[in-house]
Amino acid sequence: MNRMALLSFLLAFLLGLTACQFGGAEEKTAAAQKTELPSSETVAKETKGTAETAKGGSFDLVTKTVELNSGYVMPIYGLGTYSLHGDTCIQAVQAALQSGVRLIDTAHAYGNEVEVGEAVRTSGIPREEIFVITKLYPDQFTRPQEAIEEALRKLNLGYIDMVLLHHPGRGDVAAYKELEKYVAAGKIRSLGLSNWYIKELPEFLSQVSIKPALVQNEIHPYYQDREVVPFIQKQGITVQGWYPLGGRGHNAELLKEPVLSEIAKAHGKTLVQVILRWNIQRGVVVIPGSANPAHIKENTEIFDFVLTDEEMKRIEALDRGEKHDWY
Ligand SMILES: NC(=O)c1ccc[n+]([C@@H]2O[C@H](COP(=O)([O-])OP(=O)(O)OC[C@H]3O[C@@H](n4cnc5c(N)ncnc54)[C@H](OP(=O)(O)O)[C@@H]3O)[C@@H](O)[C@H]2O)c1
Repeated sequence: MNRMALLSFLLAFLLGLTACQFGGAEEKTAAAQKTELPSSETVAKETKGTAETAKGGSFDLVTKTVELNSGYVMPIYGLGTYSLHGDTCIQAVQAALQSGVRLIDTAHAYGNEVEVGEAVRTSGIPREEIFVITKLYPDQFTRPQEAIEEALRKLNLGYIDMVLLHHPGRGDVAAYKELEKYVAAGKIRSLGLSNWYIKELPEFLSQVSIKPALVQNEIHPYYQDREVVPFIQKQGITVQGWYPLGGRGHNAELLKEPVLSEIAKAHGKTLVQVILRWNIQRGVVVIPGSANPAHIKENTEIFDFVLTDEEMKRIEALDRGEKHDWY
């Protein structure tokens, strides 16, 4: 690393540390400033190989967390915020945080990063205890630096725990390489992908320096991704499911599924809790979306029962390969 690059890197690192002081004036200043970034060569040199030695992450059901291959620890259950806006979004995030949820999923495309950031900032919970994921949309891939700065500014949390590419698309590798620079600069902690499947993953991995820590894909009992999930996990990458309950507006049939109702009754739990628990037991992180505080609380109460192997198999048999969205 030449002297200038080293200085830039150190400056960016210090800015990152300062920004971690949650809620301070420094954090606002840092978020408002454009980040000083190391070069691609520096990123490649300093991060190549770390993924090979890092852990893939099995779930710790006591702490309810997983250690990602990036070395950071992430909760294994959270709140999804798709379609939640304004006060509804703020109140949902607040309700989740009050119920013990420490993982919040947002995206540029959801148009609610400002609300998510505000709810986290005003929660009174130390910044370090909350894990926030956001995503860059493919129409941002041609101007990744601007897009990342926008996410940092809108969330205004000093740093972002994880940024995903929302879908494969033109310029995705270049956008990811830009994200890698922000990891080196301490403004983003972990990286990941969304809607990447067996077809796209190997080629993508061969082109980047930091192995994604997570892949977020559609997963519910009617669309189980039974080959994709172990394929991703074998690479040391954590899997997270979107639409765990079948998706807002798409879940009427799933939430009445007789097999799930029967299993729920046997455990004195709700059908939704059985779906969430099934995910956890197959190593899939859950981020159910909800604007209802009672539902949000119910969705956290999934660690006081265990599905038997037979019950897991009965749920597996519900798979129809039925996608509830186009990607
Ligand atoms: N990466 C991607 O491409 C992608 C795509 C889609 C979604 N996502 C992420 O995944 C998250 C989850 O998806 P989603 O929110 O669309 O769908 P979802 O979690 O599958 O289902 C949400 C629906 O279930 C209801 N619900 C939640 N908890 C319930 C409970 N305990 N009992 C009964 N109903 C309950 C919600 O209604 P109430 O509000 O009334 O509780 C809402 O209608 C999103 O919020 C987003 O963060 C990512």
